[in-house]
Amino acid sequence: MKLFKTQIELQEHLTVLRKQSQSIGFVPTMGALHDGHIQLVKASIQENDITVVSIFINKKQFNNLEDYNNYPQNLSNDIQLLEKAGCDVLFMPDHDGMYPKTYEPISLDLGHLNSVLEGPNRPGHFDGVVQVVNRLFNYVMPNKAYFGLKDYQQCMVIKVLKEAYFPQIDLEFCDTVRLSNGLAMSSRNLRLSKQGVDLASQLYKMLDMIKRLSQHIEAKDALQYATHLLSQKHIEVEYLTLAHADTLNLGKKWFKKHKNVVLIAAHIEGVRLIDNIVF
Ligand code: PAJ
Repeated sequence: MKLFKTQIELQEHLTVLRKQSQSIGFVPTMGALHDGHIQLVKASIQENDITVVSIFINKKQFNNLEDYNNYPQNLSNDIQLLEKAGCDVLFMPDHDGMYPKTYEPISLDLGHLNSVLEGPNRPGHFDGVVQVVNRLFNYVMPNKAYFGLKDYQQCMVIKVLKEAYFPQIDLEFCDTVRLSNGLAMSSRNLRLSKQGVDLASQLYKMLDMIKRLSQHIEAKDALQYATHLLSQKHIEVEYLTLAHADTLNLGKKWFKKHKNVVLIAAHIEGVRLIDNIVF
């Protein structure tokens, strides 16, 4: 695996490959890699000649400085996992390389996506994601880019970015990879104790319960019941919300003709976790 720290080195390398008509798959990450990331890498390896992974902890997308300062890092393990998976190129720019003084932020109207769920709860977050993915797409210019449905709303934001600026890039959204207890894999799980990991498995258990209850009871009752069970376990729920799976329009009743998505954000041991289920 080749490791590049500057855009110039990366682009020199990729230009040669592109001239040889090699297709490029791209997986952007913030490191502290786990099987969820590696699944994206493997999908890219299967479908492209060359796979590029980036690791960059993007300060612009953290609305909470403590979360940024505590974001886990484990570079030697990341490199090992990527080598083992068969990744071709690792790109690790520093902050000035990503955002040189000449950088002018793009403006992208996310409309309603900015005013629901993660939008108001993490002010500035999606703008930060848009800025960094815009930079990365311009640097890598992949044929195809891979994102995880664990960050459901982020996938929809990236779709808006693609439609506005990168129509030539195909997007693939991959299923959420989970621990055997159901907990969605996340770099932030590294900040949980063993008991915290056990407790956090309740998030997916509740989402799954809501899915099953949707056959029998009203949405508001299912959501209220799950919220009650989570609060009994002293899990602080930031939101537990039903939405239309294609538009993220919030719903009070189950969508009968369309797919539903139920999304949760909750705090355990001071760590903010998100998850969702589609049905
Ligand atoms: P990060 O949290 O490192 O995630 C990188 C990619 O891995 C994202 O597309 C995310 O949705 C996916 N992912 C994380 N956990 C997953 C899981 N359990 N199963 C499947 N996919 C999973 O998301 C980001 O970084 C950043 O916002 C980024 C897009 C890199 C921009 O900075």
